Amino acid sequence: MTVNSSYYWRQMGLPGRTWGIRLGDLDEPFQELIDLHLDWPNRHIPQDTPLHQFPSDRSRLGRGVMLSGEPGRGKTTQACAALVSICRKYQVDGHFIRFSDYVQSKTKSFTLHNKVDKGLGGEAAIAETERFAELETRLYTVPLLVLDDVGKEHRTASGYAAQQVTTLLRHRHDAMLPTIITTNLRGGEWAAVYDESTASFAMEAFDIVYVSGPDYRAAST
Ligand SMILES: Nc1ncnc2c1ncn2[C@@H]1O[C@H](COP(=O)(O)OP(=O)(O)OP(=O)(O)O)[C@@H](O)[C@H]1O
Ligand SMILES: [Mg+2]
Repeated sequence: MTVNSSYYWRQMGLPGRTWGIRLGDLDEPFQELIDLHLDWPNRHIPQDTPLHQFPSDRSRLGRGVMLSGEPGRGKTTQACAALVSICRKYQVDGHFIRFSDYVQSKTKSFTLHNKVDKGLGGEAAIAETERFAELETRLYTVPLLVLDDVGKEHRTASGYAAQQVTTLLRHRHDAMLPTIITTNLRGGEWAAVYDESTASFAMEAFDIVYVSGPDYRAAST
């Protein structure tokens, strides 16, 4: 599949405005994202790699980047650019998803599952639960995932969403699959919204960037 086909970018889930844009195309790419790009062979090991080919220092395997900051600071833009750069350079698969979309699809899929179990909903319901199962498998196995806007879902689906994000992130870290997270939550808030152990795990599994600077959206209006 060629990079010029819109299918390539669409199946990665990337917002159209970010298609093809790499870190090098941005004015001030975050150093931690450049590091993730350069250090990728120490962060991710392809599935069929024998143990003797693992890096001698395994401490960074699965380590991703968390971009935390106020709205409009370019977090999503930068995360997408890192995804594009790494997937192109290392020929690995990547995926972008807004966390609230994932939680919403998951909740919907549960409802449909119940219907299907009762013999309701027909082919359409079966097909949709299968589509969601495929998506979820992808989120758990894709070499690089951007999980956008974590924390915003909280007002609506608190405990449940917190559990989903924790399970997904811990699994990916153990499986040597780095994740890039964007969030409006700050360090302390992260612990308040999720829990202490998730907050402490986050310190281990992510290079954390506190994004400051002007709001690009405010500047453009
Ligand atoms: N380096 C940049 N120079 C100019 N404009 C930028 C830059 N980075 C991002 N923008 C623009 O600023 C707007 C906000 O960027 P983006 O969506 O990445 O911010 P965000 O930090 O993810 O915001 P939110 O927290 O609301 O999700 C977008 O329209 C984007 O195109
Ligand atoms: Mg964003």
